[in-house]
Amino acid sequence: MRNNQPVTNEEYILPEGLTLVSKTDLNGTITECNDAFELASGFSRAQLIGQPHNMIRHPDVPEAVFSDLWATLKMGATWTQIVKNRRANGGFYWVKGNTTPIYSGGKICGYMSLREKPTPQEVSEATQAYQDINNGNAKIKNARIYSGIDWLAIKNAYFKLNPQYQLTIMLAFFYLIPYIIYAKLDGHSLLEMIAVGIFGLLPPYIYGLLKLKDDRFKRATLRSIAGGET
Ligand SMILES: Cc1cc2nc3c(=O)[nH]c(=O)nc-3n(C[C@H](O)[C@H](O)[C@H](O)COP(=O)(O)O)c2cc1C
Repeated sequence: MRNNQPVTNEEYILPEGLTLVSKTDLNGTITECNDAFELASGFSRAQLIGQPHNMIRHPDVPEAVFSDLWATLKMGATWTQIVKNRRANGGFYWVKGNTTPIYSGGKICGYMSLREKPTPQEVSEATQAYQDINNGNAKIKNARIYSGIDWLAIKNAYFKLNPQYQLTIMLAFFYLIPYIIYAKLDGHSLLEMIAVGIFGLLPPYIYGLLKLKDDRFKRATLRSIAGGET
């Protein structure tokens, strides 16, 4: 982590309506920037171009924030977050930045960031989020800050599953787990529980498989209609 020093408490508030733009190569070396970016950073364009983007890094931003930025960009996705940057004179400015990969011939050939003035509420939430991340009370994933269990990631993973697994897992939760608790309290044998489990989960699994087959058939039919083959 680059630790740019010194830092002061002198804040530069971005003028309303200004967009700070910078472009980098694949390694995060600044290749282009606009006047607004130059003005806010306090460095001259000549000092900025050809330098790694971390030259404006503020030490208050947790390392995890930038690890997440890079992980998201490398997946080909865009990343929007509130970031505190350091100025050449040690002061700072807050931005709401949207950073995205740039493509050429279907491949990522660089990155670009557009930044605007964040609202005071966004700044205070980001200040709190930085603190929580540093204390281990929050995490960041794809620019999303969360604490505790990442329910959204679990939900997304669940909905990516094929229907036979979705239905089986749903039934396991709503039928098998309550049944096992009941059976255990009621002194049922393990064999009985396994048998009831298999009989209970087999139908949703088979139904899910049939649904998958049906979905694939419908998709293939639609594709051939769209291709004018029927
Ligand atoms: C297009 C683009 C824009 C970036 N903008 C910033 C920025 O405004 N401020 C910043 O500190 N890092 C920015 N970064 C991330 C830096 O490359 C770097 O990961 C970060 O400053 C942390 O550096 P460090 O891990 O060496 O401390 C940007 C990266 C890219 C690809």
